[in-house]
Amino acid sequence: MDRRGFVTSGMAAGLAGFTASGGVLGALLDQTPGKRLANGDIRLSSNENPLGVSPAAREAIIEAIVESNRYGGRRQELIAALANYLSVKPENITLGFGSTEILQICTQAFQGPNTPLIAAAPTFEDVMDYQDTMPFEVHTVPLMADLQHDVQQMHELSMKRPSVVYFCNPNNPTGTITASADIDAWIAEAPETTTFLMDEAYLEYVTDDRYWDSLKWIEEKPNVVVIRTFSKIFGMAGLRVGYSVTHETTTGRLQEHSVQNSPNVLAGAAAIASLQDEGIVERSIAVNEEAKAIVHTTLDELGLEYLPTNTNFIMHKINGDLETYRNRMADNGLLVGRNFPPMLDHNRLSFGLPNEMDQWASTIKDFRRKGWI
Ligand SMILES: Cc1ncc(COP(=O)(O)O)c(C=O)c1O
Repeated sequence: MDRRGFVTSGMAAGLAGFTASGGVLGALLDQTPGKRLANGDIRLSSNENPLGVSPAAREAIIEAIVESNRYGGRRQELIAALANYLSVKPENITLGFGSTEILQICTQAFQGPNTPLIAAAPTFEDVMDYQDTMPFEVHTVPLMADLQHDVQQMHELSMKRPSVVYFCNPNNPTGTITASADIDAWIAEAPETTTFLMDEAYLEYVTDDRYWDSLKWIEEKPNVVVIRTFSKIFGMAGLRVGYSVTHETTTGRLQEHSVQNSPNVLAGAAAIASLQDEGIVERSIAVNEEAKAIVHTTLDELGLEYLPTNTNFIMHKINGDLETYRNRMADNGLLVGRNFPPMLDHNRLSFGLPNEMDQWASTIKDFRRKGWI
């Protein structure tokens, strides 16, 4: 059976189970893909995992419901499971309400009026947004022509004073990677006053062998914070679990700013079960590759350029006005992208299920026939 058959037959079995069970419980326990929006629209704009929460995690959530009257939320158990999964120590881990909270905690722990943030443009904006409540300078450095971070220019900027450097690698919204060797060379010689926030939200999707993760630094370099999430590869965006991996002295510093009784019991149970579900990473990657192939073929056929993606989304060229394009897609039940200045001639498309990408493909081809794209 080819990969498409492997992934989609599992879903068909799940949908059959849903009907047979005749209710929500069947959908929870089977391999039913994640739910569409209430009005039936297909959301291809938020870089979510269309497979939804893994069957093992669904079962764990149901079992954990009876514990919901208790504090404690499986916190220590999740930290231990993560430490085991990553081959690090529990003392290296800080949990957050998604990796978004970890980014906020990092801002509180490291930024200040005399410690600027250095980041790429465009990149994931979240960490910069905290500037509104905590005054610190932000220096943005445009991505280079090959869409990698301009490591050299970021490095030069950091030499003036203590700085926080944000590397979103792979980068959102471009989906592209920066060669890890270039970043490693800087980390190796950087002073402790340069803090590196290594956002690896999409690492499991990477296919480019110039990329590797940053975990190897955490014992040697207390100034490196590796930031990860259960939202993408584990399909748990709505359950909100993220974490950082750091040297234990840095963990202590981060935990001063973190809520000490997270995650909630259902999210904790789901995260532990997901780490134990050996097939989930492979299934998520397989369905993503399938969606990517459909999108590549379609864009090639239409002659629309796209950036090389190492994530669960892609930036592709559109002809004409971006907002008009998005509105027309929405009229067809497909929610795609938003504005990512200065790339206003590109749309960011998140990968959904293969049948959803087929629907997107026939819609965009129809737009071409109408002369809209
Ligand atoms: C690069 C990056 N980092 C962090 C996040 C935040 O994810 P979460 O808070 O769901 O873990 C996202 C979400 O899209 C992202 O793209």
